[in-house]
Amino acid sequence: MEQIINRIKIKSETSHSEKSTSHFFAEDLAGSVSMVGCSKAILNTLKMIKLVAGSRCNPILIVGETGTGKELAAKAIHVLRHPTNKVSPRENQRFVAVNCAALTANLLESELFGHVKGSFTGADREKTGLMEFAQSGTLLLDEISEMPIDLQAKLLRVLQEKTFRKVGGIKNIPCGATIIASSNRNLKNEVQANRFRGDLYYRLNISPITLAPLRSRERRQDIRLLAKYFLKTSTICPEKCGKITSLTELAIEALERHDWPGNVRELSNVIERAILLETTDKIGLNAIYIDPTEWSEVSEGLTPGLIKDFSLAKAERELIARALQKTGWQKTRAAALLGITRATLYAKVKQYNIEKDSYIANSPVQQEQNEVPASSLSQPVAAP
Ligand SMILES: Nc1ncnc2c1ncn2[C@@H]1O[C@H](COP(=O)(O)OP(=O)(O)O)[C@@H](O)[C@H]1O
Ligand SMILES: [Mg+2]
Repeated sequence: MEQIINRIKIKSETSHSEKSTSHFFAEDLAGSVSMVGCSKAILNTLKMIKLVAGSRCNPILIVGETGTGKELAAKAIHVLRHPTNKVSPRENQRFVAVNCAALTANLLESELFGHVKGSFTGADREKTGLMEFAQSGTLLLDEISEMPIDLQAKLLRVLQEKTFRKVGGIKNIPCGATIIASSNRNLKNEVQANRFRGDLYYRLNISPITLAPLRSRERRQDIRLLAKYFLKTSTICPEKCGKITSLTELAIEALERHDWPGNVRELSNVIERAILLETTDKIGLNAIYIDPTEWSEVSEGLTPGLIKDFSLAKAERELIARALQKTGWQKTRAAALLGITRATLYAKVKQYNIEKDSYIANSPVQQEQNEVPASSLSQPVAAP
């Protein structure tokens, strides 16, 4: 009887943990917009989001490299400013985003402000702009640095007057939306280069929210959590859904060493690709392809351009780690593959502190010891 109860208990616990993603989120707010993270940097960002959202700050500026989660942060502000959205979805306040880099100056202007009929060739009917459409919700102006300079002047007027006119219109229309501007460029530099209006910059830069890049020291610890989260929530391969349950430590180590110029977006793509490639229940180093455009070059052997680090010791450590991974840690086979004796292999494994999945990487001390700077490991030696 006791056994049966225990079995039921274990089953309900696993099915709960299999579905639940709550442990990926630092707090309720992060959970409500699916913002994964446990690092100090993310906690600070969440703190700032709450402070700014709780104030009457408008406009709000969000800065950070591409893919760091600026749009997620904007959604978090929106959620906090409109808590009734959850209670009464019918009265939802709108969240509208527009990418300032994606449209020509004229199109962007009429997209934002709308136009009256006949205001320009092709304006055969009146159009409502996003400023009006957003009502008292949120309007995200993504990549604000790319907004044409004339339009920047018009935007500044809206931010000051809280009213605007449609293109070709004479009526002042009130703008009650929270305006959030986001930028992956350093706006101060843009001002200095005369590409961005200084007055608009100062109007926006009241209390900026910053998203740290994934490679930064304060955010690196999110990589492991994000990788696991993407593995759990990916829908790229329905037939593998739930079958690949984890990542090997070597795979995580490789992810932790990469620079992530595309930040969280790039990491998410690498995990999706790994899910496609992996044939076992654990994502291993062999399924981690950081830059697939280099596959063909790689399969033809290491080209000089791919080598980022000429340290022999690092290359040796990686080759050994690969050989062990490839042979499923069968040391005799790995040694044969490397052309060394078993004894040498044992010595090298010890010397370089290469560990299987027993290694507890959550300990920062151990992480430091295992740290090997980014190198050719991020490019696989052989195509799948
Ligand atoms: N902390 C995070 N947790 C989970 N997913 C994230 C996180 N940050 C970014 N993402 C995901 O990465 C992608 C890029 O994020 P996004 O907010 O569009 O970045 P940005 O606007 O800075 O370019 C999106 O799919 C987003 O859901
Ligand atoms: Mg974006």
